[in-house]
Amino acid sequence: MTNSQSGTYTCGILTISDKGSRGERQDTSGEQLKSQLTGAGFSLAAYLIVPDEQQVISTTLRQWVDQKKIDLIITTGGTGVSPSDVTPEATRAVITREVPGISEAMRQASLLITPRAILSRGIAGIREESLIINLPGSEKAARENLETVLSALRHAVYKIKGGLADCGG
Ligand code: MTE
Repeated sequence: MTNSQSGTYTCGILTISDKGSRGERQDTSGEQLKSQLTGAGFSLAAYLIVPDEQQVISTTLRQWVDQKKIDLIITTGGTGVSPSDVTPEATRAVITREVPGISEAMRQASLLITPRAILSRGIAGIREESLIINLPGSEKAARENLETVLSALRHAVYKIKGGLADCGG
């Protein structure tokens, strides 16, 4: 364990969008997430836009965990029910433990905003000492979903790394 509960953790933002990866759409969701995560004390270690391709997504996630050792990886996009949406499958292929409460909380809070919240199939889970969380792709949806769980994420990373401090508070 290298970080304490008060230390700085790193984060990576992986935007998953065919149009974004071709430069045909500005990645406003990535920009939004950057500002929320750095505002919460995470330091940005990686940022990339990739197409909706399962192998590319899984490979990037593996590299960011196994080589870059990024503490928190947030993906945005590709969680829906269109044939091209493969982010949950790509994430499931690289995690070893799921953290269902994170996605459950996001869907529950999002359902108070839009009935379409049920269409996000995003998951969250752990690989080695990193936490990976899928968010939907629009800037609005990404912001709303991250807002719901952000305050618990430093503690989540701390515990994933074996932090022993009590959970009270
Ligand atoms: N969650 C919130 N909070 N706000 C939203 O606007 N949009 C939904 C859902 N979750 C939305 C949301 C919609 S319309 C879709 S299709 C799914 O997220 C999946 O989005 P994705 O395919 O861009 O990942």
